[in-house]
Amino acid sequence: MPDPDPLPGLNEDEFRRLCEFVYRRTGMVFTEAKRYFVQRRVIDRMAATGAATFASYFARLRTDLDGEVEHFINAFTVNETYFYREEHQLQCLTTDLLRERTRRRSPSLPIRIWSVPCSTGEEPFSIALWLLENWPQVDAWDIEILGSDIDTRALEAAREGVYGKRALMRLPPAVIARYFEPLADGEWRLSEDIRGSVGFSPVNLVEAAQTRPHGRFDVIFCRNVLIYFDDASRRTAAENLYETLLPGGYICLGHTESMSRISPLFEVCRYADAIVYRRPLEDAHG
Ligand SMILES: C[S@@+](CC[C@H](N)C(=O)[O-])C[C@H]1O[C@@H](n2cnc3c(N)ncnc32)[C@H](O)[C@@H]1O
Repeated sequence: MPDPDPLPGLNEDEFRRLCEFVYRRTGMVFTEAKRYFVQRRVIDRMAATGAATFASYFARLRTDLDGEVEHFINAFTVNETYFYREEHQLQCLTTDLLRERTRRRSPSLPIRIWSVPCSTGEEPFSIALWLLENWPQVDAWDIEILGSDIDTRALEAAREGVYGKRALMRLPPAVIARYFEPLADGEWRLSEDIRGSVGFSPVNLVEAAQTRPHGRFDVIFCRNVLIYFDDASRRTAAENLYETLLPGGYICLGHTESMSRISPLFEVCRYADAIVYRRPLEDAHG
């Protein structure tokens, strides 16, 4: 019987070393079930760099020759996202979280929202669009929205703000008509105003030295990344995010993710539209 897998395989040791390399750099765990995914990406990177053997490619990776680590990590990320994903959390943002954050607070202080990871930008731009469309107080407050991801290629796409039909599938037609311009090739470009309303910067969630410099936030959206981590990297990411939340600040996770199983640092807040987690108003960290 011919081998059904057309890819030249990595041996056990090579596969293990690669997975360990990815884990140490990103927190993402790849098991045997993902062998094809891992192998495919390594072979693509070997072709792109002209490495003839795994050993020569791995040496290139370890010495980070020509910034290969960044290309390699970019190749390993799963960037699935779309506008208005889990809209109920956006509803909770305006109904509950911002109402709470703006109580007894001067509008001279900006409201800071962080989408991390933001992938190709649909999430932070959704927050901007949602606030414009659904939050009557939007003009009274200075709102800063930051999008971050480990994948620098995804961030470049986010800055471009050009999207296909699939990314827009959950947006009301009136919102598309108001904020997007159709391009000749069937794609859509976000208006300059909205593109300019979100900042982007690379961040690795498992590196405190990368999460800390961005200051503290009122609300963090950290959705659909912890599923790729193990318990240890989830805990590291949770602790890093905790440090970047203002006291009383909120964190929203993806619907399959739960902070209660990761870290005891946060309070659970059950609102009508979503369960979110909060840094207590007073804690040992101040
Ligand atoms: C499935 S997307 C989620 C995007 C968006 N939050 C959403 O829910 O639609 C997962 C993203 O996590 C990013 N990622 C993976 N490991 C990361 C890390 N250690 N730090 C920051 N981002 C990471 C990937 O690059 C990818 O863009």
